[in-house]
Amino acid sequence: MKKIAVFTSGGDAPGMNACIRAVVRTALHYGIEVIGIKRGYQGMIDGDFVKMEAHSVSGIIHLGGTILRSARCKDFHTPEGRRQAYEQLKKEHIDKIVVIGGDGSFRGALVFMSEYPDISMVGCAGTIDNDLFGTDYTIGYDTAINTAMNAIDNIKDTANAHDRLFFVEVMGRDAGFIALPAAIATGAEAVLIPESKTSIDDLVSTLEKGYQNKKNSSIVVVAEGDDVGGAFKIAEEVKKRSFERWEIKVTILGHIQRGGRPTCLERVRASRVGMVAVKALLEGRNAVMIGEVNSQITYTPFEKATKHHMDINPMLLEMVEILS
Ligand code: F6P
Repeated sequence: MKKIAVFTSGGDAPGMNACIRAVVRTALHYGIEVIGIKRGYQGMIDGDFVKMEAHSVSGIIHLGGTILRSARCKDFHTPEGRRQAYEQLKKEHIDKIVVIGGDGSFRGALVFMSEYPDISMVGCAGTIDNDLFGTDYTIGYDTAINTAMNAIDNIKDTANAHDRLFFVEVMGRDAGFIALPAAIATGAEAVLIPESKTSIDDLVSTLEKGYQNKKNSSIVVVAEGDDVGGAFKIAEEVKKRSFERWEIKVTILGHIQRGGRPTCLERVRASRVGMVAVKALLEGRNAVMIGEVNSQITYTPFEKATKHHMDINPMLLEMVEILS
C-alpha cells in the first residue's frame, strides 16, 4: 500500500481533527503517502484533493470542526456523481480510503464499493449522536454531552432564579444518546427521547409532583427526534394541559453541541481509531467501521453498523425518574 486518502463526511464532530492527524501521522510512519479529500464526498466528486504532510496536521488536535471540512452531498446519491468520484480517485491512483463520519457516510461508501469493487474503504465512527451499532463511543459524543451539560447547568441557574420550567432541546435526530446523559448529569426533572414513547400526561404529573415537593424550577431535556416533536411542540402540549405552576421557556441548544474543543477522552479515542484505521487498511480490511467496545477495538461491517440500532440502557431512564 503506497497511498491512502482520508476525508470527513456528514455532520462534523469535535475530535475529527485528532482523527485526521492520527491517520496522516500513522500513514507517514509506515511510508504511505496521504491525500486529504476536502468537503467529504463532494470533494471526491470535484477532485478537491490536497497532499497531507506531517506538518499539515500540526496544532489541530485541540480544535473542533474539521480541517478537511465536511458536507452532506446530494450528488453522491446519483450513479453519475459516484462515477465522477471514481474517476477523480483513479486519476490520483487512490484506491484505499479512510472515511470519518456517521451512518449516511458509511451507507454511501457501501453503494460506492458495490459499484467500484477495486476501492477499499474503512470508517472511523464520527458523529456527536453516538448512534452507530458496534461501538460504545463515536467521535464527538463525549464533547457534545459535556457541551450540553454545561449549557443546561447555565439554564438551570436562571430557571431557578425566576421560578421557570425550561424545555431544553438537544441534538439527536434518531437517538436519545445525548439527551439521556445530559439529563442525568444536570439533575433534569424529565427526559424525552425517540426510543421511548412520550406521554404528555405522565410528563405533567412528574412536573406536578416536583412542584409539590417544593421544587421552584424544572428542566425537561428533549431530544430533537422525540416522537411528540421538538421542545416547542412539547411546551405547547404542556400548556394545553393548563399546567401553570411555572412560567414556561424553551431553549434549543442546536449546533453549539457540534463545535468546541474536544475533551481529553475524545482526543485519545479519535487518535486511537485513526491510527487503527490505517493499520486496518494495511491488514487488508475493507468495509468495516472501527470503534471500541469495553475499551477494545472493534471492526463492524458497514452494513451492520448502519442497519442495526444501539439500544438505550433502560437503567438510565430509570435514573432520571428516581433521582430527579
Ligand atoms: O448527525 C449529527 C447531527 O448533529 C444530528 O444530531 C442533527 O439532527 C443533524 O446532525 C443536523 O445536521 P445539519 O447540521 O446538517 O443540519
